[in-house]
Amino acid sequence: MTAAMDLFRLDDKVVLITGAAQGIGLAAAKLCRQAGARVVLLDQNHEALQAIDFEASGEGGTWSRHVLDVTREDQVCEVFERAVVSHGRIDVLINNAGIALRDAAVDLSREAWERVMDVNVTGMFLCAREAARRMIGAGHGGAVVNTASIMGLSGGGVYPNISYQTSKGAVVNMTRALAVEWAPHAIRVNAVAPTYVDTQFVAALTRQPELMARIAAVTPLRRLATAQEVAAAMVFLASPAAAMTTGHILAVDGGFLAQ
Ligand SMILES: NC(=O)c1ccc[n+]([C@@H]2O[C@H](COP(=O)([O-])OP(=O)(O)OC[C@H]3O[C@@H](n4cnc5c(N)ncnc54)[C@H](O)[C@@H]3O)[C@@H](O)[C@H]2O)c1
Repeated sequence: MTAAMDLFRLDDKVVLITGAAQGIGLAAAKLCRQAGARVVLLDQNHEALQAIDFEASGEGGTWSRHVLDVTREDQVCEVFERAVVSHGRIDVLINNAGIALRDAAVDLSREAWERVMDVNVTGMFLCAREAARRMIGAGHGGAVVNTASIMGLSGGGVYPNISYQTSKGAVVNMTRALAVEWAPHAIRVNAVAPTYVDTQFVAALTRQPELMARIAAVTPLRRLATAQEVAAAMVFLASPAAAMTTGHILAVDGGFLAQ
């Protein structure tokens, strides 16, 4: 029997995190480090990545950061290979980079539609594929945690967001399909489905009291989630505590989807 707290540890696991320069990804990086992991922070935002200083915040341990645009296949291949060279292996991918370009469906341009699909679906697939190739090649299995959304499981919400909802619906079923395909290689694939989370992602909303009141009204727990609350679910899904869990979409939604 593994001791209770050990089940949630990630000691010496190499954890790659996309969209790690801020928000949910950065919160996941901090929690993974506290759980003992070696984290590799990946983000297209060079300045925000450079501003992260785990040593200054008193957090030691091995970590690295790389600029990566998840839509650039050449970069994804190169950066994932570099992570293996630097850290020896990839155990976990937290596949989290994502964007939203909110517009009514009838006003949405093809360019905006394609940009959201490119980052949220194609970028997520490329990162999952490159992580799995290396896990399978090394023969040690691993875990992938995708960031979906309640909007991947609901057509509702407080404003129209068709490209985002479509893309996160794709993430939900990508998660299930990869879980089935990669189970023989001992790679577990799960996703979190957060409600509105208090990050830069929704900064424009949090400045509008009327929208915040509507979010509270459609959320049984009556508030936004914190980035750490989502990160905690990610650590669980990456950890030995979830050893028998794959293909699962874990809502971190204050009850939104229970209604
Ligand atoms: N905040 C919310 O309300 C909420 C709710 C549900 C799901 N999510 C999802 O959570 C994930 C993280 O969101 P967040 O709230 O932390 O947002 P955020 O905007 O604070 O952080 C997103 C990060 O992703 C990075 N990024 C964007 N495009 C990228 C690309 N092409 N390549 C590499 N990095 C890229 C950004 O630079 C940024 O650092 C996203 O997938 C988002 O869809 C967010």
